[in-house]
Amino acid sequence: MRVPLIAGNWKMNTTVSEAIELVNEMRPGLDEITNVDKVICPPFISLAPVRELIEGSSIKLGAQNIYFEERGAYTGEISPLMLADLCEFVIIGHSERRQYFSETGDIVNKKIQAALRAGLKPILCIGERLEENEAGRTEEVVTEQLRSSLAGIDYLSSLTIAYEPVWAIGTGKAATGEQSNETISLIRHNISQQYGKRIADDLRILYGGSVTAENAAEFINQPEIDGALVGGASLKAAEFLSIVKQTSEIKQ
Ligand code: PGA
Repeated sequence: MRVPLIAGNWKMNTTVSEAIELVNEMRPGLDEITNVDKVICPPFISLAPVRELIEGSSIKLGAQNIYFEERGAYTGEISPLMLADLCEFVIIGHSERRQYFSETGDIVNKKIQAALRAGLKPILCIGERLEENEAGRTEEVVTEQLRSSLAGIDYLSSLTIAYEPVWAIGTGKAATGEQSNETISLIRHNISQQYGKRIADDLRILYGGSVTAENAAEFINQPEIDGALVGGASLKAAEFLSIVKQTSEIKQ
C-alpha cells in the first residue's frame, strides 16, 4: 500500500514572517492527520525557521530546488549537503525551472543523483506542454523525461514522481482525473518495464496543476494517483488542510 502524499509548493511566495504565520495556521490541523504524508516546501530562506516550528509534528519539510555539486564556488546555489541537514524532500525538475532557468534533462538527472547521494527524497516533476498535449505527444514526452531524468539511477525507493501537465500549472485549468490517471498509469508501466513491477507498484506518483480544495477529490479518487503537488492552493491554510483531509478520507 502506497501512503498518499500531499506536497505544498509555495514557490517564490512568503517572506520569512509570512511563512511562519502560514505554518502556525496549518500546523494543528495537519498534524492530526496521520495516514497522509504532508510535505510543505517553503522558499530556502524559510526552511530553518519552519523546521523549528514543525519539530515534533508529523509535518515534513521539502525544498523547491537543489544544486548538484556538494560545495564550492557556485555563487547563490544551495547544495545537497546543506539541505540534508534541514529537510527530507526536494522538488526537482519543476517545469518552471525547466522553462525559466533552462534546466535540461541532464541537469535534472544530476540533481536527482546528488539528492539521493545526500539521503534526500526527490519529488521529480515531469509533464508535457500544451502544444505537445495537443499534438498527442504526451506519452512520448513523459517517456523521454523519465528516461533522461532517471538515467543511471537504479535506486527508486525514496523517489516520488509528480505528473504535472505544464498547461495546467498556475492556469486554473486542471487536467481531468481520468486523463491524469491514464498518464500516470503509463508512467507506472514505464517504470515497471525498466525497474520491475514491485518497484513500480511501490512508487508514489502525484498529480499537480491547479489542484484546489474543490477539484482535489477528482484526482485523489483515481486508483493510480497517490496524492498531489499543490501550488497556489497550498498558500491558504484552510484550503491546503481541506485537500489533505479529503485525501485522508478517500485513501483510508
Ligand atoms: P498550481 O502549481 O497548483 O499553482 O497550479 C502546481 C505546481 O506548480 O506544482
